[in-house]
Amino acid sequence: MSGNGDGGLVRARGLAKRFGDFAAVRGIDLDVRPGEAFGFLGPNGAGKSSTMRMVACVSPRTEGDLTVLGMDPLTQGPRIRARLGVVPQQDNLDTELTVRENLYVYGRYFGLSKSVVRAKATELMEFAQLADRADDQVEPLSGGMKRRLTIARSLINDPDLLLLDEPTTGLDPQARHLLWDRLFRLKQQGVTLIVTTHYMDEAEQLCDRLVVMDGGRIVAEGSPGELISRYSTREVLELRFTPGDQDPAAVEGLAERVEVLPDRLLLYTADGEATLAAAHARGVTPLSSLVRRSTLEDVFLHLTGRTLVD
Ligand SMILES: Nc1ncnc2c1ncn2[C@@H]1O[C@H](COP(=O)(O)OP(=O)(O)OP(=O)(O)O)[C@@H](O)[C@H]1O
Ligand SMILES: [Mg+2]
Repeated sequence: MSGNGDGGLVRARGLAKRFGDFAAVRGIDLDVRPGEAFGFLGPNGAGKSSTMRMVACVSPRTEGDLTVLGMDPLTQGPRIRARLGVVPQQDNLDTELTVRENLYVYGRYFGLSKSVVRAKATELMEFAQLADRADDQVEPLSGGMKRRLTIARSLINDPDLLLLDEPTTGLDPQARHLLWDRLFRLKQQGVTLIVTTHYMDEAEQLCDRLVVMDGGRIVAEGSPGELISRYSTREVLELRFTPGDQDPAAVEGLAERVEVLPDRLLLYTADGEATLAAAHARGVTPLSSLVRRSTLEDVFLHLTGRTLVD
């Protein structure tokens, strides 16, 4: 019945999306496994949302194969959507309704009974820490509150697969951590998560596996740990300079790889302290220095030559 015979909750082969002449997604392969948290990490315009919208059955693919929960979005969109929770990148709440009414209307749309929706709405307002705003109109709520309501709304039908497009954009650090914790609990209950994010820490915290997307293509895939060990060194030495003062020639040969950012040099090395000592011995005098572990940001920088977060 569920039709997940091949084991993949989402399976894509050569999936592509064009808008006129422009190719937003250029033939990607995906296999999302039941129960995992799967991430799309990539910069603006990478094609993350375009991919999510195809999976969410709100945007038809241009080319390739796609199955979601074992079904084809082109022919079985409504049946798939009934089992999905969707958090679009832009909140699309009904701002003239109250918090409670937004949940209620959405739940009724899924065909849930009045009493079930009422109970579920109360539970989800607690989940989103919006219980004290239950009967307030949505319009004047803060951006973070609206985001939390959109996330709560996505859970009204107890989805098997939750699609979250930049879920924590606009949330303060405390709310982000709280959401990660909630998502982790949903995963423990067996919900499969697909998340897009610009935030490498979010991807590292949340995702069992992820793909790095750039320019409509998947440029790498693996667990956060695998990606870091494949594409980066154990440690990174950051040397900070007055913008414009950094000179990569001065550290040549000291590290496996050097990245030049506007205000610093990143030296990729197994032993940051030893590399720092070697730099000092050469007379390199940064304003400050820092040794840290490699992150997905370093992976992304290596793969694309660009930073993820501005
Ligand atoms: N409806 C559309 N019509 C035309 N072009 C579009 C449309 N939707 C997206 N695009 C283009 O497709 C490319 C990928 O966009 P998409 O929104 O998928 O990227 P993204 O990875 O989600 O970026 P962001 O991180 O900014 O959300 C962009 O160049 C965008 O301008
Ligand atoms: Mg997007």
